[in-house]
Amino acid sequence: MMHQKTLQSRTCRAQAPRVLHPGRAVRRVCVTRHATANNGLGSSGPGLDEPIELINGRVTSGPDLSVEVNGLKLPNPFIIGSGPPGTNYQVMKKAFDEGWGGVICKTLSLDSSKVVNVTPRYAKLRDYSGRVFGWQNFELISDRPFELMLGEMRRLRQEYPERVIIASVMEEYNKNAWEEIIGRCEEVGVDAFEINFSCPHGLPERRMGMAMGQDPEVLGEVCGWINGAARVPVWAKMTPNVTDIAAQAAVALRAGCEGVAAINTIQCITGVNLDTLRPEPSVEGYSTPGGYSWKAVKPIALAKVAAIAKGMEREFGGQGRSLSGIGGVETGGDAAEFILLGADTVQVCTGVMIHGYPVVKSLCGGLQRFMTKHGFNSISQFRGASLPYVTVHSELVRRQREAIAAKKARVGLANDAEWSGEDFVKNAESMVANK
Ligand SMILES: Cc1cc2nc3c(=O)[nH]c(=O)nc-3n(C[C@H](O)[C@H](O)[C@H](O)COP(=O)(O)O)c2cc1C
Repeated sequence: MMHQKTLQSRTCRAQAPRVLHPGRAVRRVCVTRHATANNGLGSSGPGLDEPIELINGRVTSGPDLSVEVNGLKLPNPFIIGSGPPGTNYQVMKKAFDEGWGGVICKTLSLDSSKVVNVTPRYAKLRDYSGRVFGWQNFELISDRPFELMLGEMRRLRQEYPERVIIASVMEEYNKNAWEEIIGRCEEVGVDAFEINFSCPHGLPERRMGMAMGQDPEVLGEVCGWINGAARVPVWAKMTPNVTDIAAQAAVALRAGCEGVAAINTIQCITGVNLDTLRPEPSVEGYSTPGGYSWKAVKPIALAKVAAIAKGMEREFGGQGRSLSGIGGVETGGDAAEFILLGADTVQVCTGVMIHGYPVVKSLCGGLQRFMTKHGFNSISQFRGASLPYVTVHSELVRRQREAIAAKKARVGLANDAEWSGEDFVKNAESMVANK
């Protein structure tokens, strides 16, 4: 599937959320099951949705999950996020065979000999029940020779002509290098690019990845080089490790990118070992801040996606630009949240490392279940539907004043003078939305 680089119309836009229909028949009763069967990591997760049948990534019944974004036709919105799940031919093939809507390969650069990984390079953060909710990595980009990866992607292209293959690439501050990597990936027939302006560890030491994504001047200039060379759509993958991700996304879009993807990982140190006094994960007794992913980052990712979506709407009127949401997606409900806040597609990386490639069938099942519950027949019917309800704090104050004036009961404390030392926990609890 080869597409010319054109700014396609962004077909979504928010409809007001529909009222839930309590009596509406649900196509299937979705029982949740615990995620211990296929992860091999001992996670006793909250449970995945019931898997459904997919043929070439397409659902065989129920609400339509297909999406078209920047001219790319995906059978479902779930894309393998750049990382270990897209490292080589055999894992990318597995992703297509299981039904993923698209695959983004592990980030490639022209000279992989500069990429030297260390082990251990991952660390898990668990809650008190032992469930993994945070994941740190300081893995670098692909350590595989560029030629080898090109050959594998060419083979994948031939074997899966209708499926979407996206090349994640990264280079140094060198126009020729960017032009070369873009041109050579296009020769093997990739459908689009995702530019890694966001890896927070290792690469910034070489002024790559996050170092570029944090510097608006360099970001704009490099995006200009890339878009001057690319004939297929380009997505800029943004770092959350900035003050204003929407401003950085706007720089990339103004420089011609068709879309943005967010978020890459958040800089972190998982912890300090209180026996050895060394930070974790420890390599020969030393550590370095890595990137945080998985469930713990989802609230941050949702806020960043909403900020970018609002900015895109303001500046581009929701036309022609796309947004790929990433961060902690494990269920169809998680994906629905990203789409409700304006994402066109949803990427999963750590979720594949924890649950394996078949999880796409559960993700699709869960997303369909959400859609059936609300009577949505297509993704475009609810994309961005929650976005109008993300507003500024002063607007909340105005609305609440109006509500109280209209004699609605006050919830929680009226002001800070009402906090009591005796009832402190109860006071806090009185203002929680989701008790
Ligand atoms: C082990 C690991 C390696 C990763 N490698 C890359 C990479 O090479 N390029 C990239 O753009 N993002 C990379 N990421 C970031 C993910 O694509 C994704 O943006 C982030 O992990 C948040 O999504 P998640 O919670 O679904 O993992 C990596 C993430 C992990 C956990």
